[in-house]
This record gives sequence, structure tokens and C-alpha cells, in this order.
Amino acid sequence: MLTLGFETSCDETACAVVRDGHRVLSNAIATQTELHEGYGGVVPEIAGRAHVERIIPVMRRSVSDAGVSLRDIDAVAVGHRPGLIGSLLVGVSASKAAALALGVPLVGVDHVQAHLVAGTLDTNEDPPMPALGLVVSGGHTAMYYIPSLIEARRLGSTRDDAVGEAYDKAATILGLQYPGGPRLDKLAQHPAADPYSIEFPVSRLEDGSLDFSFSGLKTAMLYAVKGVPVRKGRPGPPPPPPLTDVRVRDLAASFQRAACHAVMLKMGRALEALADGGIECRSILAGGGVTANSRLRKELTSLATERNLELCLPKMAYCLDNAAMIAALGGRRFMAGVHDDLTLRAHPSSDIPAYTVL
Ligand code: KG4
Ligand code: ZN
Repeated sequence: MLTLGFETSCDETACAVVRDGHRVLSNAIATQTELHEGYGGVVPEIAGRAHVERIIPVMRRSVSDAGVSLRDIDAVAVGHRPGLIGSLLVGVSASKAAALALGVPLVGVDHVQAHLVAGTLDTNEDPPMPALGLVVSGGHTAMYYIPSLIEARRLGSTRDDAVGEAYDKAATILGLQYPGGPRLDKLAQHPAADPYSIEFPVSRLEDGSLDFSFSGLKTAMLYAVKGVPVRKGRPGPPPPPPLTDVRVRDLAASFQRAACHAVMLKMGRALEALADGGIECRSILAGGGVTANSRLRKELTSLATERNLELCLPKMAYCLDNAAMIAALGGRRFMAGVHDDLTLRAHPSSDIPAYTVL
């Protein structure tokens, strides 16, 4: 069963061919990083126009890399939510045209849910269910209860910044180039970097909350670099130490420790809350750009080992946005008898239902 997947939710134009919902035959991506670099973030208008230019060549490349012909495709999948609307529309239109021309079903896929199956790509056996899901990316930070690989229920999500967004903003404050997350991670890994040099805040929110908050961490980085603002009637705070290379890598390592701790704290809470509600998770599924982070990968591995859970972590190539995960989830939904029709629409937001742990 071959699925052709389309992904255009943000700034990557991607197409992939996946067999039987997990075996990746091709994973073509045209990145737009160079188009947005000078703006310090993704410019939606530029992203949408670039998708239009790239989508057909990328689709052709994915089919030829897979060594198949378009006529062999059994279903077309598309990430139709959430994302930048002008970008999503390009993928949705292209996927409808492909499904119509090939006479095969169209399957709409939630991009965030697709990140959760990225760890199953190119593996031989599916992880045991139920699972606790974690999506950590530039646009999303949330945890999910996963009863099966094609279902997800949201347990909690960020109330402000996504963790990848906090990484990118912290990196900009440190003077690193966009997208700064991977650059900050690299500095934090320097053998002489001290993750305990600065005590950055770890947001816990209310007792038992499964939501996240990263805006305080980002502001703390701003204050550590630029100095604490002067308050009326108070003595001026001491100026911050100069931003030497040593200080930059210590700040990076300390930020990384706090950011990962904030994620892991909530993962522990979620496992306990689910267990209290009678749901014993058997695996952890994690996905999204920040699962490429060196420290987070280690901490997730330790948590899974401690709790005797199977960890389903994407290979590096499948952490960031890609169409293989879209084709995988679309293929799995199609094999389970679910598909959409040509009235499928693009939506800026996700509609994964919330799950309240009692
Ligand atoms: O999943 P993704 O490609 O896009 C969204 O759906 O948002 O994630 C991109 C995010 C960016 O914020 C990037 O800085 C972050 O993932 N990222 C990292 C690392 N690699 C990518 N953050 C921390 N450490 C990394 N190694
Ligand atoms: Zn993503």
C-alpha cells in the first residue's frame, strides 16, 4: 500500500512515498531557510509563494527517488492543519489535484499528530499501546494520550511559547543566527559548558497542571544577557557580565537544562495522572524539531528506562517537518478505513480533542 504525502504547513515543501504506513521509500524536502534567514523568522507570504514554485518538482522527485510511478500510488495524504493558511492551501490544492488525477482517495492528516508517528518510520514493529505522546517543535508543545497510533487526545499544551520558539528566541538574544535551536544545542554540548552556571526558572504552573509555559524562561535569558530593568524607586541592579564566548556557552547549557527539565517534569506528571486514571502507558512517542535536541533525547531515554517503557523517538531525519510522517499517518488511517474527499479544507489550528485525566 503506497501513500504519497504532501507537507507544506510552514516553510518546508515536502513530499514522500511511504509503504504500508511505516516504510519510507522517499522523503523529498525543499527547505526555505535561506529565504527567511534575513527576517529572523518565517514570513508567511514568502513561504506560500515559495511552496507554489516548489511543490510539483518536489512531488516528482519523491516519486522518482522511491523508484515507483505515480500510477502505483494507492492513496494521497496531506497535512491540512495546523499551520500557516497560505502555506497549507498549496499542499491541500496539490494533493487534491494528485488524488483526482490518479483516481485514489485523499486523506487529511493533522500535522501535530503526524509528528507522533515519526518515531515508527522505518521500524519493523509498532510500539505497544497505550502511549504517552510528546510533540515539541517550533510551533507546538503538547502531550497526548495515545490509545492507538491513529488516535490522539490532548492532555496539556503550552500557554504561551512553544519550546522550540523559546529556543529560537533565546538563541537570538545570545546573538546566534536563525533558526537558533540547533545552534544553541551545539554550544550547550561544549565539554566546558556549565549547565549549572545560571539557575533559570522552570515553570510548574498549578499543582497537577499538564500545561507548559516557556515565556518566563525566555525573559530570564533576556535579563541574563541585557540586565534586569530598573524599577522606579529601587537601586539599579548590577550590570550583567560581558557576553564572552564562555558566558554564551554557559548560558546556552543552563537554558537547555531548564527547558528540558520543564518538559520532563510534565512528562512524569502525565504518566502519573494517567496511571491514577487507570491508564498504564506502555510506551512514549515523541516527535517534533526539538526531539533532535541532544539533552532531551538523553532525558527521554532515561525516563523510558526508569519506567520500563518503550521509547519511540524519530531518527534525526524525521524530527523536523517532513512528508514521510504525513504519508505514514495518512497510510495508517487509510488502512483503517478512514479517508476524506475533495471538500477537505485547510485549517490554521489543530482539532485534536482534549482529554481530561480524572
Ligand atoms: O517540527 P519543526 O521542524 O517545525 C514545527 O512544526 O514547528 O521544528 C522546528 C523547531 C525550531 O524551533 C528549531 O529551533 C527546533 O525545532 N530545533 C531544535 C533543535 N533542532 C531543531 N531545538 C533545540 N535543539 C535542537 N537540536
Ligand atoms: Zn512540525
